[in-house]
Amino acid sequence: MTRLVELEETGPRKLDPSDIDDEKGDVAICQCGLSESFPFCDGSHRRTEDEDPETTYVYEDGKRRELERIVTADQ
Ligand code: FES
Repeated sequence: MTRLVELEETGPRKLDPSDIDDEKGDVAICQCGLSESFPFCDGSHRRTEDEDPETTYVYEDGKRRELERIVTADQ
């Protein structure tokens, strides 16, 4: 599976000690691109658990839809 994600930031987010979860003692960084608290994981990745490995998805307005494969001239 792949996901198309729109990000508006143009620079890094530096982590500091206040980013550490007081209860767990760790920092979880979002790798799925769906977190409302990006760059931190907020559990939104659970929405991807049933994604098909061969499908590309777009998540918009709380909904998921499948996207036609983008084929470039190189393929
Ligand atoms: S990895 Fe993206 S919300 Fe958890």
